[in-house]
Amino acid sequence: MADFTAKIEQWYRQHKRALPWRETTDPYYIWLSEIILQQTRVEQGWAYYERFVSAFPSVQALAAASEEQVLLLWQGLGYYSRARNLLKAAQQIAALGSFPSDYKSILSLPGVGPYTAAAIASFSFGQPCAVVDGNVFRILSRYFGIETPIDSTKGRKEFLALADELLDKKRPALYNQAIMDFGAVVCKPSGTGCSFCPLNETCMAYAQNLVEHLPVKEKKMGQKTRWLSYVYVCTDEEEVLISRRTKDDIWKGLYEFPMIESSEDLSLASLQQLFPQGLWTMLRHGFVHQLTHQRLLVNFYLLELPKKDVSLQGQWVKKSELQNYAFPQLLIKLLSYADYC
Ligand code: ADE
Repeated sequence: MADFTAKIEQWYRQHKRALPWRETTDPYYIWLSEIILQQTRVEQGWAYYERFVSAFPSVQALAAASEEQVLLLWQGLGYYSRARNLLKAAQQIAALGSFPSDYKSILSLPGVGPYTAAAIASFSFGQPCAVVDGNVFRILSRYFGIETPIDSTKGRKEFLALADELLDKKRPALYNQAIMDFGAVVCKPSGTGCSFCPLNETCMAYAQNLVEHLPVKEKKMGQKTRWLSYVYVCTDEEEVLISRRTKDDIWKGLYEFPMIESSEDLSLASLQQLFPQGLWTMLRHGFVHQLTHQRLLVNFYLLELPKKDVSLQGQWVKKSELQNYAFPQLLIKLLSYADYC
């Protein structure tokens, strides 16, 4: 046990990545970085972190932002409820007057789960809270050869207890950063880091050839398939029809082009029947866009109208102003494929 902790820290001292959120103990910056990093890898997250920090240098500045501003900066990261929670939490913190400093109060902030609360409590306030995320599950299940499913109640308990035992109570920030980095750089999901792993001589999974088998998961997440047909409606005056998603669904609060959802593929002919005016063109058919638990099959149509049709629902904006609105990454991708961005 002590050997594991010491070796992880020793590895980190030699190999730690210099990252901007590691140069500070300010809980605002740490919180911001952790919320972003839940969503993406360090390479991409770094740029988003810089953008947020320069747009909102303090939690008060973020609290004063509009939801649209925050969504626009978050654009491309996905899981937009995280961006909305970011704003809500900032408003709560601003109202409190300072960032909460104990694990329980940090955990009560919107969008902050046990992992993020432990990260902030240890990195900013030196509290002995062990971080447990996918990296930690993977490392511990492999090193100690634990086959209890990580998504079972029993498994979670077992791993949390073990993580607590392994935590360096004197240096919780160092140890937590170390185990996170170790998971990202050495004990990778693919198992390609094993040959240079400083713990491979004592790793159970490595000895028993179980690296690819661990960690064990009980459930395979159900996949839902949805057909979405988007219509890029534009006029000769270069105006485009957009609307804001308000339903409690993916991409709430983001903008989109007129869209029809169907249980099966929707043909150009059926859309033309619904709206016979203008010139219709199919730009993409059956484009696959994978979200965490949903597979989207997407059609993208162009409808050219001579002038604005005010009977259509939505908001007409200048094409040159589209960049001021936050769109799901899917639509940005489709626009660029269609050469209409
Ligand atoms: N991923 C999540 N949190 C991280 C951190 N603090 N440093 C590097 N990668 C991370």
